[in-house]
Amino acid sequence: MAIIHQIDKKKLPKHVAIIMDGNGRWAKQQGKNRVFGHKQGAKSVKEIVQAAGELGIEYLTLYAFSTENWNRPKLEVDALMALLISSINSETKELIENNVRLLSIGNHNALPKNVRNKLFQAIDQTKNNTGLTLVLALSYSARWELTEAAKKIAGLVVDHKISVDDIDEKIISDNLTTTNIPDPELMIRTSGEYRISNFLLWQLAYSELYFTDKLWPEFGKEEFFKALMNYQSRERRFGKTSEQLEHNI
Ligand code: IPE
Ligand code: IPE
Ligand code: MG
Repeated sequence: MAIIHQIDKKKLPKHVAIIMDGNGRWAKQQGKNRVFGHKQGAKSVKEIVQAAGELGIEYLTLYAFSTENWNRPKLEVDALMALLISSINSETKELIENNVRLLSIGNHNALPKNVRNKLFQAIDQTKNNTGLTLVLALSYSARWELTEAAKKIAGLVVDHKISVDDIDEKIISDNLTTTNIPDPELMIRTSGEYRISNFLLWQLAYSELYFTDKLWPEFGKEEFFKALMNYQSRERRFGKTSEQLEHNI
């Protein structure tokens, strides 16, 4: 049976987050430069966005560029920014056709102005779509996000909008860049690295983690379905015992 038919549509995660890693190594294997790997990686993005939309997943967050990635060679950073613009140019029409709503999290002020403008334009053009919400993490790092949240919450206290005792998990969540987005039930990382690399540290607190050796340009629909199947085979206990879950107590 094709793997897609083995997925229980009633037990899909609402939100899947992906650390798309391994473009550079994939390119090296092909004897090509890193930028070639990023271009191929963009094809995987297209395929996974389609698959997530077709399955009816509500949120897909893709780690596309981290705060730390600014430290890469300028040529690579410039190529990634150019690829972002050309991808937005070529894909926005399809996002609209497929009812995908685009959002982005990250320090947008750090992005070149032309990238920022394009990004906000696409976000605006897709804002009324009601299908998959695609969240691009761009110039994002969780420590940056948590630092910003701390500043915002401190501001609320200083302005007497809330008191220190009002600060709870909800206030912290509400002041992150992912306001109103449920925490990911599943986080996938490709390329055989077993780390979080400063991604969604707060939101991943209870996510199921799935690691695969596949490099991002090799990660297609079948691989995505495999990750979802694996997720569906897990028992999410949230601190309780199996018996409690079984008897719903
Ligand atoms: C992920 O692939 C893409 C970005 C971080 C932008 P990499 O470029 O990190 O690929 P590797 O890890 O060097 O193979
Ligand atoms: C993580 O990949 C960031 C993105 C996928 C955008 P990296 O390749 O930058 O991660 P590290 O530095 O190897 O942990
Ligand atoms: Mg990498």
